[in-house]
Amino acid sequence: KKVVLAYSGGLDTSVIAKWLEDTYECEVVTFTADLGQGEEVEPARVKAQALGIKEIYIEDLREEFVRDFVFPMFRANTVYESEYLLGTSIARPLISKRLIEIANETGADAISHGATGKGNDQVRFELGAYALKPGVQVIAPWREWDLNSREKLLNYCDQHGIEVERKKGKSPYSMDANLLHISYEGGILENPWTEAEDDMWRWTVSPEQAPDKATYLDLTYEKGDIVAINGETMTPATVLEYLNKVGGENGVGRLDIVENRYVGMKSRGCYETPGGSIMLKAHRAIESITLDREVAHLKDELMPRYAKLIYNGYWWSPEREMLQKMIDESQQHVNGIVRVKLYKGNIIVVGRQSDDTLFDEAVATFEEDAGAYNQGDAEGFIKLNALRLRIAADKGRNL
Ligand code: ARG
Ligand code: SIN
Repeated sequence: KKVVLAYSGGLDTSVIAKWLEDTYECEVVTFTADLGQGEEVEPARVKAQALGIKEIYIEDLREEFVRDFVFPMFRANTVYESEYLLGTSIARPLISKRLIEIANETGADAISHGATGKGNDQVRFELGAYALKPGVQVIAPWREWDLNSREKLLNYCDQHGIEVERKKGKSPYSMDANLLHISYEGGILENPWTEAEDDMWRWTVSPEQAPDKATYLDLTYEKGDIVAINGETMTPATVLEYLNKVGGENGVGRLDIVENRYVGMKSRGCYETPGGSIMLKAHRAIESITLDREVAHLKDELMPRYAKLIYNGYWWSPEREMLQKMIDESQQHVNGIVRVKLYKGNIIVVGRQSDDTLFDEAVATFEEDAGAYNQGDAEGFIKLNALRLRIAADKGRNL
């Protein structure tokens, strides 16, 4: 028996590797991905070797993550419950995909992960895995064992000769990071009235600490994706990395919310999404001049559905793929440049231009419009639209 484990190299997944071998008498294959979490992934190799793992996969997936998951999602201006930019949710389908591909390559019939039985992540990993390999076995140790505290995990390490770093400065939060965001849950955040301490935030300065001078950025769009910043061509991952940096310096992208998990509970989370917050605003701005009104409105109506699919773990579903085709089709003319100004936590759009613009100054102007628009036409337009209101009024319904 062989199991592919999503392995971070940390305490939990190191215990899981050993526990799987003992409990299921299986061979464990580890998979560690660089998704831009900002931590080296190579140390995971040494740690896996120390655990006696023979097949170790370590991969840099940053470009694939942004190109094939983050960018497609941002084409829809996706936000869950009006606030959450889905930083963790959008990374899970890629991890599921690689777990399954590695299972197929190594002849494994099971996968395993370190998500708890109370969260969304288990759902996302497993829906993805079943969608891509229907007969796969999933082992979720957190739902099976009783090692439910850090104390017990450390004892397990002592008993089984697993070496782990006992970091003094261990973060008191449950965190997850990738190029799109960093998340914080648990600890003092479990009381939704308690404000996060300022030293919790890792990527952004507080707006109070941000520079007194604004930063301007020109973002070039092609088919709904940013391809250059300030005229310099960049790859998808580089775009996001750059925006995270300048966004973070300007105190942009902090979020503190209570959200509804798929499994039913409410959960308080803090998120830093500097680059993503800029991309959301800027993308809406380029769409504002390049999209037809009804196309834009239809996208806005469908967006919450699409966000819920991703939050709940249905990336690898026929309905997500159908929506994606529609969203991608809408981006045909979403080309041009948006100028944004970052200032003390604010993202302010100050300019937009496009060869594909539908904005017509001759029509929109408050000055004389040289016959582009006949104001007299508006009278009939309004009268016909008022017809049913007038009929109702005649029947005494309106007042
Ligand atoms: N609540 C967020 C979500 O469901 C973040 C989850 C963070 N995951 C983690 N393993 N710390 O997408
Ligand atoms: C977890 O429970 O593993 C993290 C939180 C979540 O998945 O929502």
